[in-house]
Amino acid sequence: MNKQRAGVFIAFEGGDGAGKSTQAARLAAALESRGYTVLRTREPGGTPVGEKLRSLVLDHGNGDIDAHTEALIFAASRAAHASQVIRPALGRGEIVLTDRYIDSSVAYQGAGRDLGQDAVRSLNEWATSGLEPHLTVLLDVDPQLGRLRRTVGQAAEDRLESEADEFHARIRDAFLNLAASRPASYLVLPAHLPVNELAGQILARVDALLDTPPAAAQDAVQLPAVRGAAQHGGGS
Ligand SMILES: Nc1ncnc2c1ncn2[C@@H]1O[C@H](COP(=O)(O)OP(=O)(O)OP(=O)(O)O)[C@@H](O)[C@H]1O
Ligand SMILES: [Mg+2]
Repeated sequence: MNKQRAGVFIAFEGGDGAGKSTQAARLAAALESRGYTVLRTREPGGTPVGEKLRSLVLDHGNGDIDAHTEALIFAASRAAHASQVIRPALGRGEIVLTDRYIDSSVAYQGAGRDLGQDAVRSLNEWATSGLEPHLTVLLDVDPQLGRLRRTVGQAAEDRLESEADEFHARIRDAFLNLAASRPASYLVLPAHLPVNELAGQILARVDALLDTPPAAAQDAVQLPAVRGAAQHGGGS
């Protein structure tokens, strides 16, 4: 039996090596130990077609992938993820934790690849029929720290990870600007803090979200699926 009456959708965002997967796992464990049903998922991926798209776009060796193609592959994976995985779980009243969501595309393809952040957001709003997280946890990482973390004892970097530090610096700025434009919907934390401290701050914020009156949470999930018409937590 779920404690929550309506689903809650939380996205983890931030540069490569920021600690997203670590914190998503910590939050899932904390919430599950309290009796919540949690679905942990990731992008690109999360569905069979999404996992194939993930290897297509992240692995080396698939030939040139131009920026528009890259953006469309991420959006295609996200469309499947939103409709096949996230919406159904929210409908069952679960807490959905996703490792990356739309902001990653706005930052990596919009800012990093210079496709334009508005264009990439529009594409992804269309792909997801406007499904927005109730909360986005942004782990703000210095690109050099991120690179250091992910290359220690790990396999080779993927197509995007192996881009220059300057590319990752633009992505970092884009993430911070997204959070600043809708502060009520974000928790921004410096990724260099210890794992336990970050986990504590994230849990405290999620507790506050779960304590909001069920009617409000329900509205947030059930309002028309158009960004701008379905705002909760402020901003546009
Ligand atoms: N707060 C932290 N302090 C020190 N090390 C950390 C911290 N958080 C994560 N790490 C370590 O940094 C590495 C990257 O963490 P993690 O895989 O969670 O990042 P990520 O954001 O999911 O990366 P990616 O974008 O590559 O998926 C791991 O080895 C992890 O143990
Ligand atoms: Mg990860």
